[in-house]
Amino acid sequence: MSGRATPLFLLFLCLTLGSVQNQGSSQDAFIIQYLERRLIQMEERLNQCEQNTLGITQKSFDLSSEIRGCVSSLSMLRSEVKSQVDGVSVRVERVERELEFLENKIPTQSHIEMEEALLEQQIKAAELEQLKKKAEITLENDCSTALSQIKSLKIVKRTGDPNGSWFKDPSEGSATVYLLSGIRNNTVLEYKSLKQFTKTSAAPLKVVQLPFSWQGTGHVVYHGFLYCHKADTPNEILKVDLLNGTVVDSTLLPGAGRLPVYSLNPNTYLDMAVDELGLWVIHADPEYGGNLVITKLDKGTLAVDHTWDTQCRSHDAEGAFLMCGTLYVVYNTRYGGRSTIQCLYDIHDTIHSSESPVVFFPKRYTSHSSIHYHPGDKQLYAWDDGYQTIYKVETRRNDGIVAE
Ligand SMILES: *[C@@H]1O[C@H](CO)[C@@H](O)[C@H](O)[C@H]1NC(C)=O
Ligand SMILES: *[C@@H]1O[C@H](CO)[C@@H](O)[C@H](O)[C@H]1NC(C)=O
Ligand SMILES: *[C@@H]1O[C@H](CO)[C@@H](O)[C@H](O)[C@H]1NC(C)=O
Repeated sequence: MSGRATPLFLLFLCLTLGSVQNQGSSQDAFIIQYLERRLIQMEERLNQCEQNTLGITQKSFDLSSEIRGCVSSLSMLRSEVKSQVDGVSVRVERVERELEFLENKIPTQSHIEMEEALLEQQIKAAELEQLKKKAEITLENDCSTALSQIKSLKIVKRTGDPNGSWFKDPSEGSATVYLLSGIRNNTVLEYKSLKQFTKTSAAPLKVVQLPFSWQGTGHVVYHGFLYCHKADTPNEILKVDLLNGTVVDSTLLPGAGRLPVYSLNPNTYLDMAVDELGLWVIHADPEYGGNLVITKLDKGTLAVDHTWDTQCRSHDAEGAFLMCGTLYVVYNTRYGGRSTIQCLYDIHDTIHSSESPVVFFPKRYTSHSSIHYHPGDKQLYAWDDGYQTIYKVETRRNDGIVAE
């Protein structure tokens, strides 16, 4: 503004001076002096004005950078608080889960108000009972075996999609073979026996069409019931009577359904398993860093018996199975390589991952979309890129297990 005002003013001054010289009187000289003085004063004020503007600009710049600093430290604070809240909520959920488990074990309470000591006593008793029950299970099933190596491989057949699952019903006396091809379908194929399944031209004994679709490759059949993940639900497990395809029970597995169980099999969110102790389900939980969580289910009602958080990661895992309450996790690469067992988790805490050597599968490039252990046969039924294969496993006595 001052820059534009100055030339205008000078022009006006020149015109004035010109007319003043023409008159040439002493009064005019006085006027000139007066005008010069005014000119100097105005220039001074102009300077002052310019300096003030500069000062204000500097101040507003300082202020805005200060505000920017405040905003960024505020957002830092906010994310810190958020992560703390997240952490607390994870811990609260874990405690709730533990409480829920204990509450289930406490007999129905008639008095709402209960002495703290009494409550503690009851919790102790419930825990003791749980330990006893666990020990009983262990003894009943003579479950003192641990995996020592995977001995041999037999390629049984090549049928169906590149991804799928096949297995026998592990309950005693059952020879039926089940095949669920693909990662989503409503069909279950039944074969009379392994021998019949192996025949190249074998037609299934029975084709069961369910009124809904299953999803993934984590299904099992146990005592004639199919346990599967219902398609289009994050975490619903169905128990289906295969005689007539009716759903006899269902449950929502807490915490499951947000991550694939194994990063190399992105379509499987729930992996069911059967071992000497009964029915299990394996899932990956984002709240435990994406690590695997194993849950023992009641095979009758699908109620959760107990849940264990393992330190086995789902990243680069392609499958897992349980043997005598120990989880064995199989890892591979995205491109298909040699499968290895690199992590295990024993619910009885007698076998430790860090002390166990890596177990290699027989030398062959593989890409397993499912692996199911059969506790009676001591064999793994696997689906390897469209091939149905069987691995024999060698076990050793695990004398670390003591009944408590
Ligand atoms: C479902 O499975 C049956 C038998 O394995 C197969 O013939 C059919 O093509 C499958 N359907 C889909 C949509 O994959
Ligand atoms: C399905 O079969 C089971 C066992 O045979 C039976 O108890 C049940 O009533 C049957 N359900 C239907 C809907 O037919
Ligand atoms: C089979 O699973 C792999 C991941 O393990 C996936 O990349 C591939 O697309 C799947 N194939 C089919 C036909 O679904």
